[in-house]
Amino acid sequence: MCGIVGYIGKSSAVDVLLDGLTSLEYRGYDSAGIAINVDGHVDLYKAKGKLQNLKLIVDKSREHIERSTIGIGHIRWATHGAPTTVNAHPHSCNCGRVAVVHNGIIETYKELREKLESEGCNFRSQTDTETVAHLVASKFAQTQDLTEAVRLATLEIEGAYALCVIHQDVKNTIVATRRNAPLIIGIGQGEHYVASDVPAIIQYTKKALYLDDNQIATLTPDTLDIIDINNNPVVQKVEVLPWEPVALSKMGYKHYMLKEIHEQPDVVRNVLSGKLKAIDEQINLSEVTLDREKIRGLNRIQIVACGTSLHAAMVGKYLIEQFCEIAVDVEASSEYIYRKTITDENTLVIGVSQSGETADTITAVRLAKKKGSHILIVTNRPDSTMAREADSLVPVNAGIEVSVAATKSFMAQLLSFYLLAIYMAEIKGLMKKEELEKIKHELIVLPQKLEEILTNTEDIKACARKFSSFKDFVFIARGINFPTALEGALKLKEISYINATGYSAGELKHGPIAMLDETMPVLAILMSGTVYEKILSNAEEAKARNARMIAITDSTDEKLGNIFECIIRVPHIDELLSPIAAIIPLQLLAYYIAEFLGKDVDQPRNLAKSVTVE
Ligand code: AGP
Repeated sequence: MCGIVGYIGKSSAVDVLLDGLTSLEYRGYDSAGIAINVDGHVDLYKAKGKLQNLKLIVDKSREHIERSTIGIGHIRWATHGAPTTVNAHPHSCNCGRVAVVHNGIIETYKELREKLESEGCNFRSQTDTETVAHLVASKFAQTQDLTEAVRLATLEIEGAYALCVIHQDVKNTIVATRRNAPLIIGIGQGEHYVASDVPAIIQYTKKALYLDDNQIATLTPDTLDIIDINNNPVVQKVEVLPWEPVALSKMGYKHYMLKEIHEQPDVVRNVLSGKLKAIDEQINLSEVTLDREKIRGLNRIQIVACGTSLHAAMVGKYLIEQFCEIAVDVEASSEYIYRKTITDENTLVIGVSQSGETADTITAVRLAKKKGSHILIVTNRPDSTMAREADSLVPVNAGIEVSVAATKSFMAQLLSFYLLAIYMAEIKGLMKKEELEKIKHELIVLPQKLEEILTNTEDIKACARKFSSFKDFVFIARGINFPTALEGALKLKEISYINATGYSAGELKHGPIAMLDETMPVLAILMSGTVYEKILSNAEEAKARNARMIAITDSTDEKLGNIFECIIRVPHIDELLSPIAAIIPLQLLAYYIAEFLGKDVDQPRNLAKSVTVE
């Protein structure tokens, strides 16, 4: 869960590396570094904290390093060793000739370190990565061949990695390899790029290839050779990246998060486009390859995901059970992988992930795949590792999401579950035509309703201002909006560092109510439908304990003012679609509270967008 970048070509490497790292900042931002081969000497520049600190250091030596046309860079989210300058990548060996950047975890680093230390290697950092630098240096001493040195080193390491390596004595070469961590190689005119993700290279080239696990690429300005771990040459397909650099701009918004929240009506249009054409036409999910007979025969579905994607999955469970009458279990991937799961070829396993690179979810779907389950992946990154594992793929089409706090990708995941649930219900022939048409109509008119919410944010801002000094919040809801409460609370925690917990409203009286007093506001998601009255009573119970009350509601009932101090209204919406409308004010509330508190909204402390370690 770090970002790596490399450049070799005819231009100055330093700016390509720094620009690349800037667009990979979502992957981590506790320290950064670059290694540049200047006049046959590998120079390292590292800094603790945000990338800006590295830029200031680099600027002092700019004149010296600007002439170099080869280098590698790294942005870190600490796993082994604190976020210090010493632990920042690139790492090197005793003689300083090798420089290595790494994303992932070397699981066998302790044994390797002991062995290498006994052979005379002096370790400077607490990182697992430094073992790779020493190991490559030792293999290079034996072979005088950097590609072979990297290949031999990878035979001895276990874990997940994307690695980029340079060596002082091999002036015109970068060697890159991967296992269970993403790596893309960009192809330019007399230049090559390597990076953890597309944004780092897209402004330079749209021509690229994805390395597969255990492949080793050797890059010079004019050549690109790939071998597998057994030294056999490999040819990888060159693809044209369907990305536009403009997607990475804030487009006048103060933060990416605010821009991404405002993009949601278009995200809905994108997700529905081509899949839901008219209310009297069946949903078209051509990417789902599970045959109709199998869908009819399914009696169990498991959904695995983490964080925000897990909350979307919980809404998915509600929809699939409601529309398709199939039992659905939802579980955090990190739990699913450490117990005996009853999964077999008759179980459909759905993995949900914005990035498609979340290690826990990748492991979970691989486990299920081994047991014979059909794997359906719902992801925003059809080019990701998870997508490549999929038997069926539902791409969510939210566009690139830069802010670490997921917003529009959650919206797209929700929409994908509506489409999937209706798609399966149509195959099973369970729902009445009128019911299906009603839901489809509501989906089609959604973007206008969301636009209405986004153009009337004054109440949300006022509520945020009023409540921004509180230290603890409780979010309550029931039924299909229980996951909405969890997601709203997660957004607040992530970007404002305020303690917020989502509870099923009915559970409040079984314990959490003991905490309530005037210092702990309670936010109720009070959407029309089957549980409206129940939540209202639960809210009254909270109010009776002096809690200060906030409501997100589509009700126009004036009497709500007797219970709730802040009422944030959204347009009326069918209960089954209500999470889609309710989540937007919650995202905005979290955003404005964090903004008032002066927090780093797009890059909250301790987090990273893509969690590629278990
Ligand atoms: C969302 O705001 C989070 N930053 C985080 O919970 C995220 O949803 C989680 O890490 C899963 O990521 P994924 O969707 O890329 O798998």
